[in-house]
Amino acid sequence: MRAYDIIYKKREGEKLNKKELEFLINGYVADKIPDYQVSAWAMAVFFQGMDAEETADLTMIMAESGDMIDLSPVKGTKVDKHSTGGVGDTTTLILAPLAAAAGVPVAKMSGRGLGHTGGTIDKLEAIPGFNTSLSREEFFENVNKYGLSIVGQTGNLTPADKKLYALRDVTATVESIPLIASSIMSKKIAGGADAIVLDVKTGSGAFMQELSESRKLAEAMVNIGKEVGQNTVAYITDMNEPLGLAVGNALEVKEAIKVLKGKGPDDITELCIELGAAMVKLSGQEDDLERAKKLLKEKIRSGEALQKFADMVTAQGGDADIIDNPELLPQAEKKMKVKSEQNGYISAINAHKIGIAAMLLGAGRETKDGDIDMAVGIEIVKKIADEVKKGDVLAVLHVNDESNLEAALEKVKSSYSITEEKIEKNPLIYEIIE
Ligand code: URA
Ligand code: CA
Repeated sequence: MRAYDIIYKKREGEKLNKKELEFLINGYVADKIPDYQVSAWAMAVFFQGMDAEETADLTMIMAESGDMIDLSPVKGTKVDKHSTGGVGDTTTLILAPLAAAAGVPVAKMSGRGLGHTGGTIDKLEAIPGFNTSLSREEFFENVNKYGLSIVGQTGNLTPADKKLYALRDVTATVESIPLIASSIMSKKIAGGADAIVLDVKTGSGAFMQELSESRKLAEAMVNIGKEVGQNTVAYITDMNEPLGLAVGNALEVKEAIKVLKGKGPDDITELCIELGAAMVKLSGQEDDLERAKKLLKEKIRSGEALQKFADMVTAQGGDADIIDNPELLPQAEKKMKVKSEQNGYISAINAHKIGIAAMLLGAGRETKDGDIDMAVGIEIVKKIADEVKKGDVLAVLHVNDESNLEAALEKVKSSYSITEEKIEKNPLIYEIIE
């Protein structure tokens, strides 16, 4: 077999079989096939696409290129949740305890943030003392005892995806639906869950800005799940503005606690109830979505979901006093307001720009090994459809290091679009793909 022939075949729009994909991907990981041939193949895929079987084959080859996590020491059906990347997306911090309170075991390995999107592990480390690197044994023990644990990824997960993603990033081949779908699903499959709930974002702050493209991505991932026998559902949800009101590590922890107390913003609360219900259903705890939603609302009202959060924090060495005393979380020295320069209605808040602004303040890292400031970030005050008067506060920046403050202020200001006509709120969920 030759890489040349495989590239040629894909260029001509033919389907590659599993042997050919194995030859190419495994050869690439083993440094036997050079970057330039794999980039040519990726570009051919970008233009010619891949069918469902081919996409599933690629997914499994990437999933099996490194460690495959075995979650069998955890009892019950393990359901994982994945978001295609949001800004201020605090859902994992809320969903994990919420699902656990409803009897769904949550054994989650999460990543750190890079660029304008935050990572769950960074957010958890804003909690004083919280340890995200437990041993495998402690991790499983905590899940079996408390129903949940969230730790950082360790080991060598999907090296093929790491290498291919880095290559796509510099060869203009990221935006290919089969390549994105297989990249995401390979990591989920290697992560060992029995079933997966996908939150596919759509809108100005998302990877896929058009609903039709987001739908294709969602369908591609659900199809992979079907092909490889992993129960998968996808929710297409709005990312035309940041979710909730907090962007930044400690700010998002505070927001998660508020939601778990039943006092959080409506959008993020509702999304967590919806995605949580999907998790409850896939876990086999309850087959009716409406009843699952009711159950989860009750878990918030009764305080059981908040208690699960407290259990997790304590079990992982964190200070659970932050729940009642959020001022124990890192706090920024200064607050700077961004005010509206006109009257009208908010029509969009570019979540991507808000994410960049948070990164400029130090909440996110620009390089893989960069430091982050847990305290800083952005508090959103006005959201889409809100009426504003000239001089009203749109957002508040929480600031320590001022070296990029001007740029951050400018990003936040320009992320807001304001119109004269009244505006309807966007739907939170556009479609559910099963
Ligand atoms: N996220 C991923 O993990 N992979 C992609 O290819 C795109 C987004
Ligand atoms: Ca948020």
